[in-house]
Parts: sequence; C-alpha cells; structure tokens
Amino acid sequence: MQDNNESSRDTCRSDNFDFRLIFEKSRKNTFNKCPHLPDALARASLDIPELSEPEVMRHYTALSKLNFGNDTGMYPLGSCTMKYNPRFTEYLAALPQNMVHPYQDETTIQGSLKIMYMLKKHLMEICGMDDFSLQPAAGANGEFTSMAIIKSYFERKKDDRSEVIVPDSAHGTNPKSAAMAGFDVVEIPSNEQGYVDTKILKKAVSEKTAALMLTNPNTLGLFEKDILEIAKIVHDAGGLLFYDGANLEGIIGRVRPGDMGFDCMSLNLHKTFAAPHGGGGPGSGPTGVKNLLADLLPAPTIEYDGKKYYLDNNRPHSIGKVHEFYGNYLVMVRALGYIMRLGSTGMKRISEFSVLNSNYMVSRLSKAYELKNPEIPRKHEAVFSAAKQKKHDISALDIAKRLMDYGVHPPTIYFPLIVKEALMIEPTETESKESIDNYCDVLLRINEEIEKDPETVKTAPHTIVVGRLDDVFAARKMILRWSPALLTDNPCNPYSITQHKKNDLH
Ligand SMILES: Cc1ncc(COP(=O)(O)O)c(C=O)c1O
Repeated sequence: MQDNNESSRDTCRSDNFDFRLIFEKSRKNTFNKCPHLPDALARASLDIPELSEPEVMRHYTALSKLNFGNDTGMYPLGSCTMKYNPRFTEYLAALPQNMVHPYQDETTIQGSLKIMYMLKKHLMEICGMDDFSLQPAAGANGEFTSMAIIKSYFERKKDDRSEVIVPDSAHGTNPKSAAMAGFDVVEIPSNEQGYVDTKILKKAVSEKTAALMLTNPNTLGLFEKDILEIAKIVHDAGGLLFYDGANLEGIIGRVRPGDMGFDCMSLNLHKTFAAPHGGGGPGSGPTGVKNLLADLLPAPTIEYDGKKYYLDNNRPHSIGKVHEFYGNYLVMVRALGYIMRLGSTGMKRISEFSVLNSNYMVSRLSKAYELKNPEIPRKHEAVFSAAKQKKHDISALDIAKRLMDYGVHPPTIYFPLIVKEALMIEPTETESKESIDNYCDVLLRINEEIEKDPETVKTAPHTIVVGRLDDVFAARKMILRWSPALLTDNPCNPYSITQHKKNDLH
C-alpha cells in the first residue's frame, strides 16, 4: 500500500499546477505573419491561442498527467467493467486495411464484411442466440433495440401487451429503454437476499406482460439461481425474456443466455470484449435474438451466401435502422481480435478470474464494510454498504473521495438504489492479486481513519489537483463552454462563476 499521509501530501501537485487555460496563457501578437505569405492571403485576425509549439506540447502533456485511467491504476467501477484493454486489439483497429468507407461497393469491402460476419457467428455461439445485429452503439441502445423488436413482435401478432417487468436492482437504462419503446414499466422488489422473488413475479405477470428484463448475474453480483423457473413463469404468461448482457463476464464460457431461456439480449462489446468503456465511446451493443424474433432485427444484416459477404436490406419485417451504416465498426474489429486470441479456453478464464477476484475481495473486506449475505458467492462484483461508517458521519461519497488520495479510482457509489450508501466494486478479471490487495488495504486503512480521524476522510481529497467540487453548483449552473467572461467578476455578467455562487446558491 502506498503510504499516503506524509509522502503523498508532499507530492501534492496543486500548488505548482498552472490552472490557466491555453487561451489564458496566450500572448497576443507574439508571432508575426510569415514573411513569405502574400498579404492578400493573410487573415486579418484569427482568434486562437498564440503560443510556441513546445508551450502547446507542455500544456497538453501536463493536462494528460492529471488524467486517471486503467493504464494508471485499478479502476473497479462496479457495473462498468473497467478492465484493462489489451494493446493488440488497438493495433488491429489501427491497421490501414480498416480504413474503408461505408458507401464503398460491397465487392471492395469483403474483408470488413467478413470480420463483422465472423463476429456475429462467434457471438451467436457464445450467447446461444440464433442471430445478431451489430448495429446498436451501446448497451442501452441494444436494450432499446430489443424492446422495439418485442413491441413489433406483439404488434404483428395483434396482441396488445403493454407491460415490461423490471426488478428494482436493474440498471437504470433498462426501465428507460422499455419506456422509450412505448411500454409501461412494472418494477418488482428483490427478495431479502437480492434475487428475483418468484412469488412476486408470479403475481406481476399477466396477459399484459410483454417481457421481463433481467441481467444474470444481477447488479448485486448474484447469479439468479431460479432462472429456469423465472423463464417458465414469464413464458407461461405469454411474455418474452430479455437479457441485459452487461454482466456477461461473470458467466462467459460457462452458461449461455439462450440456454437459460432468454429470447433476446444486448451485449456491451466495450465492456466484455475489451474495447474501452466510457469517455464518450464509441461503444457497441449487439442485439441477439432467438429465431422467433430474427425477422425483426435492424436492417441491413450481414450475411454470407457461400461465395460472398453482403448486406441484406431485403428484410420487410425489420424494425429499421438504430444506427447509421452498420454500427461502430472498429469496436467490432477489436472484439473479434479479442475473441479469436482468447479462444474458448480464454473465454472460460475470463469468468473464472472475474469470479475469483470478486470473492477474494469479499473475503478481505466484508468484516469492515457491510455486505449482505457474504457467504453467498458473488460472480463479477459485490455491493458493500458504508452504513457502519455512516454512524461516524462518513458517507460512501467521502470514502470515494478519500480513495483518490491513495491513487486508485473510487468504485461506483449509490447504485444500485436498493443498497444504502452503496459501494459497488468490480475488480474485473484483469487485476492481479497484488493490485486487489492494495485496493483492499487502502479501504481497510480508510476504515481505520474513519474511527481515528474522520475529518481527514470528510474533507478528502487532499492530494489530487482538484479538491472537492461543488456538485450542486455544477449541476444547477452547467457551464460547458469556456468564455473569457467566466473570469470577470462583474455583477451583470451572466457567466461569472463568482456571481452565480453569491446570488443563486447560498
Ligand atoms: C448492467 C448494465 N446494463 C446496461 C448498461 C448500459 O450500457 P451502456 O453504458 O453501454 O449503454 C450498463 C453500463 O455499464 C450496465 O452495467
């Protein structure tokens, strides 16, 4: 564990860091017009920062050093699967052969089509589905695509089912996707242990039920052991089962959603299949279906007729497009490379290490941080609670901020909503025992600090360049674009940060 209190305070960079934006560093009229440029071609003015190349370089390099990513340290953001993304997939994505244009004639992009076709076939095999569309751009987009498919399926059957059941532990995108597709969302509470309560589910299903949305393992990291009974309850009521594949790393290579009874699903290639997640994407959320829904997939689909690969636009029952062209192609290249490199043995190792790492972490932390039913093995993640720490007036947010002082990334906090003061930690399969030990040591040390010196935790972070931000101010007065006016403390200035603080918030 890094010794924080003395040494990292000493290395605190905030005193030395030059916070000025590049516009503020600019020295106006420093650089003369190039003497060889004819006057007629010269601009009268150009409002860009005026700095030398080394100054620009140093400005951005200094900023990049403030960033935190998986290449810098452990990033166990529960549910987000921020695992290490291998460099060879980046190499594949950067190959010049991938620089094709979506309007190119099919005969000239046979290689790219083959990559997409092969990926679709692998995903069908891994997930036990009969077909896949690679168009959706993220997990949530894939959920919506599945919901739109289910809507269209029942409309074509002239069955006006209007409800989608979602457990209270579901990711927030699930109810949103169902609502966007035009369904009414019925939330069901989880049982005491965090599983779907089959008695409550039986009461919730009816002739109105179009689908149940479920992720397995669920957001608490628990495998829904009653999944076959759950599938039967929904199917007997005439509904369909949707699988949110965002937690697939907990079971990949061992159990397939198709075999558990799911009729359609979404994946997050940018989580499970090692393309970066977060930072604005691009992502990829392929949508898989069983045969009964295959006709409805977004068009075009990628097909092979034994001689050539082609885009099949002749799909009269398709729900239409959910993304321009064929989705985010370079994420697919990375995913296919990853799947082929790991092979079926490697797929099994993903879930093996994902589960091992989570349970090792549970064994180290569950005495200090509250965890319901610690004896039940977790799959990919565990959701602790800072309820004990709250008695010392320390919240999950305070702990998250203090973690930053130790050079690691905080976990997801306050989600899922069913756990008070939630700390949702997902170590992922790519972390070593040493890095998990370091993370656990830090959390245990913070727990000791809470008893001995809660103020240090309450006022964290102390060692990173930006201290505690005013979240309320940031949310209410979202300023997304820099303007010179931001710096002027003028009562009439609508952009003045100082005025906003004085007038509106306190
Ligand atoms: C369980 C679960 N479902 C859905 C999503 C949404 O995926 P995306 O962020 O790709 O839209 C996430 C995101 O992390 C998730 O964890």
